[in-house]
Amino acid sequence: MIGLERREGAAIVTVDRPEAMNALDLEHLEALRERLAELAADAEARVVVLTGAGEKAFVAGADIKYMQGLDVLGARRWGELGHECGNLLETMPKPTIAALNGFALGGGCELALACDLRLASANARLGQPEINLGVLPGWGGSLRLARATTLGFAKELVLTGRQIGAEEALERGLVNAVHEPGELMDKTLELCRTLAAKSPLALAYAKEAVNLALQGDHRANLATEARLFAMLFATEDQTEGMAAFAEKRQPEFRGR
Ligand code: HXC
Repeated sequence: MIGLERREGAAIVTVDRPEAMNALDLEHLEALRERLAELAADAEARVVVLTGAGEKAFVAGADIKYMQGLDVLGARRWGELGHECGNLLETMPKPTIAALNGFALGGGCELALACDLRLASANARLGQPEINLGVLPGWGGSLRLARATTLGFAKELVLTGRQIGAEEALERGLVNAVHEPGELMDKTLELCRTLAAKSPLALAYAKEAVNLALQGDHRANLATEARLFAMLFATEDQTEGMAAFAEKRQPEFRGR
């Protein structure tokens, strides 16, 4: 099942299929897409966290046994369904965090890469082993891994299928921080509280602007950034944020 728990403005989505290392079959991937689509439109959910049930795995990839039976058209649909999940994580107007509590392989690593931030437990293992199955990362990993790290490192992981540990992932910029396994969820919730205290409008526009950094026309993207910046001056949160600074107090953002 795909669990949903709400904690202080954060919506925690848990892929819960421990008998298969939280690998995603059709039922679970469709349920994940529904959850993410709901949360994208849910103003109560200020931050969305994606994690896996148990202590072994975040998501050990797409379900290989399910994929064995796919024909070309089925594989195309399967790829697109994963892309829909990734696109929701990458573009929903609020921060998304992957809490990597173990194996994040193949499609698991790809969904994590679609999130805005990645926190890993010290025992996490990341990689794109699809090449060992005679395929390639089909949920955005070929591209997002290169964007998150470097083209050369992405080629190494995608072409060799090598798994890396949390520390190497940190060195490479693939994750933002590494925590002891027992502390991962507390640290994730701490980050959620930090983010939930910001203006949700400013967060949404800031995410939109940074998402433009590695795509499209640079001049046009700079113009979009200038427009998004200016639009925030129509919000109460901008007035409050700047007044709070001048009055030497903490701001209270209301999302207006
Ligand atoms: C289906 C999986 C699975 C997966 C694990 N399981 N990963 N089933 N699909 N991706 C199942 C195993 O078959 C096994 O079921 C149970 O989970 C426990 O796994 P074990 O292998 O016994 O555990 P362990 O020895 O600890 O090894 C853990 C592991 C290994 C390193 C994560 O399971 C593994 O290498 N899994 C495959 C990882 C992978 O290749 N992922 C990429 C998939 S391709 P039984 O019934 O035997 O107990 C992909 C493409 C995405 O993600 C893009 C699509 C378009």
